[in-house]
Amino acid sequence: MRVLGIETSCDDTAAAIYDRDAGLLAHRLATQIDIHEPFGGVVPELAARDHIKTLLPLIDHLIKGPENRGARPHAIAYTAGPGLAGALLVGASVAAGLARAWQVPALGIHHMEGHLLAPFLEDEAPAAPLLALLVSGGHTMLVDVAALGAYRILGQSLDDAAGEAFDKTAKLLGLGFPGGPAVAAAAADGDPGRFSLPRPMTQRPGLDFSFSGLKTQVRASVATVAAAAAAAAGRGGTGGPGDPAAALDRQSVADLARAFEEAVVDTLVIKCRRALRQTGRRRLVVSGGVGANARLRERLRTAVGELDAQVFYPRPALCTDNGAMIAYAGFLRASGRLPAPAGPEDGGFEIRPRWSLEEI
Ligand code: KG4
Ligand code: ZN
Repeated sequence: MRVLGIETSCDDTAAAIYDRDAGLLAHRLATQIDIHEPFGGVVPELAARDHIKTLLPLIDHLIKGPENRGARPHAIAYTAGPGLAGALLVGASVAAGLARAWQVPALGIHHMEGHLLAPFLEDEAPAAPLLALLVSGGHTMLVDVAALGAYRILGQSLDDAAGEAFDKTAKLLGLGFPGGPAVAAAAADGDPGRFSLPRPMTQRPGLDFSFSGLKTQVRASVATVAAAAAAAAGRGGTGGPGDPAAALDRQSVADLARAFEEAVVDTLVIKCRRALRQTGRRRLVVSGGVGANARLRERLRTAVGELDAQVFYPRPALCTDNGAMIAYAGFLRASGRLPAPAGPEDGGFEIRPRWSLEEI
């Protein structure tokens, strides 16, 4: 059995083919960074329009490429939600069209289940029961997985997702888009001791997160440094209009990026340890865009090891949005290893821009 996976929930156009015997056969991705960069964030309408232009040629290359040689897939999996409605509709309608043309089923997949399953595509794959930390641009959650397909959310962000906090902090520091990799790169030269930022919601019990206050603290620190720079230059006060980030010297940007990264990583590590202790699970999977963060991976490996547990990551390219995770989730569901969830009826298609993992 071969499954084509299609991912268009946000700003990456991605597709992949998963084969029962060969595993992940091929995956392709087209990024829209150039389109959204001038706006400092994803513009939903532009995302959808670009998926329309890019998706079919990308699938065409994948299907005809050397790994698949034109073979017709036995099923099509597409991201049905959560995500941007217009962007999701492009993937769903292409999936519905191809499914009708090829006379194969199309299955709607939950984007976060895709992220959760991505570590299973690696050679060193985990096994349920396990705990999952899903950290992306739209979500931050800890999920208890008694068995694949049975998901219980133990805690999640009450406001900004961790990736969103990275993106907003990057903007405050005058760094590029997407913010996560830019903040991580700047943080590499930073002094962790110069600024002290809070570890939100770690002092009280529970497994929920809150990252919006951290961004406010970064904003306040930027203003303080900018005011000091202006005073030193004899201009006095925070004074005139303009972008405070423009007044930051390179070292201050690095130091703030480092303090921010350390605060997010610490918070995630504390909550993962707490969740492992509370549930008694011995395996943790970490996935979603922020899961590509090198500092988080290193810190979690040590912290989880101390609890005699194991942590599993997908390679960084499969942490961020990709088609492979959707193809694999589709394979599990099309082959009956997991019950099929949302799927279209009568050749129609369905999207669910808001969809809880617990509703699968
Ligand atoms: O999973 P993903 O590709 O898309 C969503 O489903 O949201 O995650 C994207 C998020 C962005 O906020 C991006 O800034 C963040 O993941 N990200 C990172 C890194 N790479 C991507 N955050 C921290 N460190 C990274 N290396
Ligand atoms: Zn994602």
